[in-house]
Amino acid sequence: MTLQSNIDVQEYGSLIQAALNAKLATEDSTYNHAINTKLDNDKLLVWLNEPSETIMDINFKNQVEQIIAPLLFPGYIVKFKPGLNLVERPNEPPESSRALIYHLHHGKYARLLIDNINDTQLFESKSGNLGIKLMNPDFFWFPRKSNHMALQAVTQAGKTRFITYLLPNLKGFSELEAERGSIDDSTNALIVIDPKIDPVLREESMRLHADYIYPKIDKSDYSFINDVNTKLGQMIDLIKHRAEILKEQPKTKFKDVWVIIDEGLAIPEMANTKSKNIYFSFLDRLLLMSASTQVHVILTGQAFNAGQIVSSFARLQFSIRILMTPKVTIENSQYLFKSLDEASINNLIVDEDEYGSLGVGIITSGDGQILPFKAPFLKGIR
Ligand SMILES: Nc1ncnc2c1ncn2[C@@H]1O[C@H](COP(=O)(O)OP(=O)(O)OP(=O)(O)O)[C@@H](O)[C@H]1O
Ligand SMILES: [Mg+2]
Repeated sequence: MTLQSNIDVQEYGSLIQAALNAKLATEDSTYNHAINTKLDNDKLLVWLNEPSETIMDINFKNQVEQIIAPLLFPGYIVKFKPGLNLVERPNEPPESSRALIYHLHHGKYARLLIDNINDTQLFESKSGNLGIKLMNPDFFWFPRKSNHMALQAVTQAGKTRFITYLLPNLKGFSELEAERGSIDDSTNALIVIDPKIDPVLREESMRLHADYIYPKIDKSDYSFINDVNTKLGQMIDLIKHRAEILKEQPKTKFKDVWVIIDEGLAIPEMANTKSKNIYFSFLDRLLLMSASTQVHVILTGQAFNAGQIVSSFARLQFSIRILMTPKVTIENSQYLFKSLDEASINNLIVDEDEYGSLGVGIITSGDGQILPFKAPFLKGIR
């Protein structure tokens, strides 16, 4: 812990305690200090001295969150976690042996600035997990833990740039894991499905020798979705093949393969019902079957209505989820962030930086915590 954060812990700690007393004071709390707090670098505990007038319920949790989120900003970021998150306070009398826990991050998460798209941002955690950095100083995506990614944003919000950022990192990830022992069955690590033929995504896919699938101008609209379905079918075969090997050698890890589908919703728009149905069922199967075989899906879309893009069960397979929007609402968060309600949305501080609201929003990565997100900024790319 740095000296700076020690000061923060003390100063913010007394500020929080005083603010909660001032704002939530009842006859009760002013008499016997019913609300107590303990701030640490990564968490805040809030507990009551029972019997208290205050009820420790979701309302109380939200009330406290409403006070602490702006108060701790920018010293700490309060991460949202649905439900009443109680922890034990060991060795305390029954009057105060439980506390609400708020998970914090010391300091803001800052946007990554990428000077050179070729530079990868890979990181090995203490427990040996390989991660891809998404924000400074320490927010990572661990793809072997959170297999599939869903990214929702309206047009021009930065979906395609974000997956462009990921491409070299994903390829680097596969190569590093191969060095660490995963079996290279000479599958291409990168499958990029790009219905919009984005020039930057295309160029980057070419440079990295990705398997790049796009609508060909001289062919019919149906030919594109047929190409996509053929590729998804091949991926399902690959998973089945790998699963056979796993039966004999359950510890085997395979080369990580990334199926990146930009604008996954737009693809079936151009198709007849039959190819549409094939597309959805392949996507569902891919999401449901692939976890143990190191096949990952990264899907972007403007909305993630279940039934329209994937089944609600398959949607649950996206353990890392991003919504890019400067204004989170019940409407835009209902597909990927169902646990957010009006109160928790208001408590999430989605702040801007000198790059404005570009690629700004919220993220969750499998542990249930939701926090503000800022996409890496790619310098020198159109
Ligand atoms: N991370 C970023 N770094 C630098 N520029 C960005 C970034 N994200 C977005 N931009 C800028 O915003 C524009 C739109 O971004 P992008 O094409 O990724 O959005 P999109 O959500 O894919 O939109 P569309 O619906 O048009 O496909 C880009 O052309 C670029 O100028
Ligand atoms: Mg795009």
